[in-house]
Amino acid sequence: MPDLRVNIGNLELKNPVMTASGTFGYGVDFIDFFDISILGGISVKGLHIDPKLGNAPQRIMETPCGMLNAIGLQGIGIDAFDKEKMPILRKYDVPIIVNFWGTTEEDYEKAVERLNSVQGIAGLEVNVSCPNIKEGGMSFGTNCNSLQSLIKRIRSKTKLHLMVKLSPNVTSITEMARIVEGEGANSVSLVNTFSAMIIDIEKRKPILSNVVGGLSGPAIRPIAVKMVWDVYNAVKIPVIGMGGIMNARDALEFIIAGSTAIQIGTANFVNPKISQDIIRDINEYCTKHNIQNIKDIIGSLNIN
Ligand SMILES: Cc1cc2nc3c(=O)[nH]c(=O)nc-3n(C[C@H](O)[C@H](O)[C@H](O)COP(=O)(O)O)c2cc1C
Repeated sequence: MPDLRVNIGNLELKNPVMTASGTFGYGVDFIDFFDISILGGISVKGLHIDPKLGNAPQRIMETPCGMLNAIGLQGIGIDAFDKEKMPILRKYDVPIIVNFWGTTEEDYEKAVERLNSVQGIAGLEVNVSCPNIKEGGMSFGTNCNSLQSLIKRIRSKTKLHLMVKLSPNVTSITEMARIVEGEGANSVSLVNTFSAMIIDIEKRKPILSNVVGGLSGPAIRPIAVKMVWDVYNAVKIPVIGMGGIMNARDALEFIIAGSTAIQIGTANFVNPKISQDIIRDINEYCTKHNIQNIKDIIGSLNIN
């Protein structure tokens, strides 16, 4: 049997297959589909310190080879997550990564301080694709100064593994990766969704109530793979890649480009058991190619 274990800083994952935030609920929603403890890790739906309703419908639309969403970060809040979801999640031997967000640095700080006291979480994933209301709505993750200041502040408040989820809606994602590495992030995950829109030509109105949304799914995969490759070559901390992974072939593309682990997002909506199939098929690929240790192919892209 090939060894599929990988290390993300101080975290050891059984295999590189994680589920992506916002596409796998709080993990507990999937326990009727398969044994979630086979996963390398679970990134839960983005949490704010307080419960949030998200945007009004319509919030989702299918697009060619993907989907557009503007859920608006609906969530139950950290207290309810701790009380209602964590007691169930603690029964499973799987690293839980808590994705969280805010619209001010103070929001993020309150969230981190509360998350420090939640028993059994393996790490934090900071979602920086949210509007920074003090900076006029520009997202934290698209402004170098806002990003640097935010990560510095979060890092000073927690010893938990700190993964920063990078936005692809920037001129240079490598610059953003270097900034968060410089502020002590333990890993970077990428990519979040691409800013996009769809128009109803009869009404001449946007389809989503929020006007714009985030594009995900296979449509974004080649761009995401390139961004992972760029970031892998720019920083020393581990890279967790995602964007349109639908099967083991896609996952391996990200691993070869430099991802230590990968996250499955939109594909969960097509097949809730997809991660299980992907783990099985990565195993099969390694066996077939005589790869004894998956670590041997991380970043093994041959460009000569
Ligand atoms: C419906 C939906 C909700 C999402 N919610 C979050 C979220 O709460 N936090 C976050 O960091 N990313 C969120 N994402 C982004 C995904 O985690 C992932 O980065 C993105 O969809 C790209 O991967 P994919 O193409 O495999 O879906 C969401 C994506 C979708 C489709």
